[in-house]
Amino acid sequence: MDSIIVTGNGPLNGAIPIAGAKNACLTLMPATLLSDEPLTLTNAPRLSDIKTMSELLRSLGAEVTSMQDGQVLALSSHTIATTKADYEIVRKMRASNLVLGPLLAREHEAIVSLPGGCAIGARPMDIHITALETLGAEIELKDGYLHAKAPGGLKGATHELRFASVGATENVVMAATLAKGTTVLKNAAREPEIVDLVHCLRKMGAQIEGEGTSTITIQGVDRLHGATHPVVTDRIELGTYMLAPAICGGEVELLGGRIDLLEAFCEKLDAAGISVEETEKGLKVARKNGRVKAVDVVTEPFPGFPTDLQAQMMALMCTAEGTAVLEEKIFENRFMHAPELMRMGASIEVQGGTATVHGVERLKGAPVMATDLRASVSLILAGLAAEGETIVNRVYHLDRGYERVEEKLGALGAKIERVKG
Ligand code: UD1
Repeated sequence: MDSIIVTGNGPLNGAIPIAGAKNACLTLMPATLLSDEPLTLTNAPRLSDIKTMSELLRSLGAEVTSMQDGQVLALSSHTIATTKADYEIVRKMRASNLVLGPLLAREHEAIVSLPGGCAIGARPMDIHITALETLGAEIELKDGYLHAKAPGGLKGATHELRFASVGATENVVMAATLAKGTTVLKNAAREPEIVDLVHCLRKMGAQIEGEGTSTITIQGVDRLHGATHPVVTDRIELGTYMLAPAICGGEVELLGGRIDLLEAFCEKLDAAGISVEETEKGLKVARKNGRVKAVDVVTEPFPGFPTDLQAQMMALMCTAEGTAVLEEKIFENRFMHAPELMRMGASIEVQGGTATVHGVERLKGAPVMATDLRASVSLILAGLAAEGETIVNRVYHLDRGYERVEEKLGALGAKIERVKG
């Protein structure tokens, strides 16, 4: 397995592009299953999770062609060969569960293995299942697979999610586009990736209102057609690289960045003493004079502080002035980076869903282990600010979510290299 070696090398400066959003692309791709006409996605990120989703869609009979060095994906699901999403592919990535809604909608049946993904919590699928059952699906769990069917097709209904789950909202919205009648989804998630999905579905002929609010209304139509759609900017990659000059000092421009994707996060950076400015091309981030100040963070569904930036924010707080309390409210097991950061000299106490970080002057390089996607990158960020060499082992999760990380950070002056293992 590959490792990444980072050596603290002073301030970072320059400009780097931000890719299309992994989490948007992973929900836009299964939307191909809703139509027999082609769907073209532009601004796609070059990531191993995208390859896994391509593999899954191909196994269902879709054609997926990657063009322009992976930035354009041509998808076509003229016919669906099978409605079974096999464990061998699904176990690699939780987002595989996003084929459930589209398959049920178009084929009136789906057999989908319960997913895998990062080990950050239990991550069940009850919210997806209850919502799809309200639309008339019959769903049973057998041999690790969800067996879902909707004889005669799904029917629109009103349903309130017990929690604003991102994946459940995406599955239900896709399923409801081809249901008979109107679906009103209450307590829907409001993430920018859902807004992006709705924009794409609308181009395909879906009738949807209310995206970006907690109530989404979908009027079912008989069929959807082809479309071309650019994937929205990855707000998590954006936030991650905004933290690089925050931790190391310097001034970095993130091309394609937008404050509205990350308002709660930008407010915390401001309170910590980091300046964020909108430019014509994106966002410019610089550390104001002196040491970063400790700020408390609570992760919440959008528009709150994203759980996917909690690990990276913790890396920043490790060398802040004062004590920061980080509360994780979305996933129950998402502090696995804390003991690794402590190996680098950080002072952190974890109790249940709360981590208390007492800022230290300087971190020291150490060999550390990447335990999940966002944890991996938090260790790289910490390594950039540490004295000496940090070896981040087991970085395969990193490649699931960050394209060309060595190239991008290297372009800003970071000393970072990959060792093939
Ligand atoms: C998506 C993102 C992930 C991000 C998360 C929260 C993708 C591919 N992944 O994941 O990067 O961290 O949103 O912003 O878009 N839950 C249940 N039952 C369910 C579904 C969820 O209990 O049926 C719980 C989960 O265990 C978790 C919480 O709800 O505690 C949030 O999950 P959800 O919003 O569904 O996240 P994902 O869609 O898996």
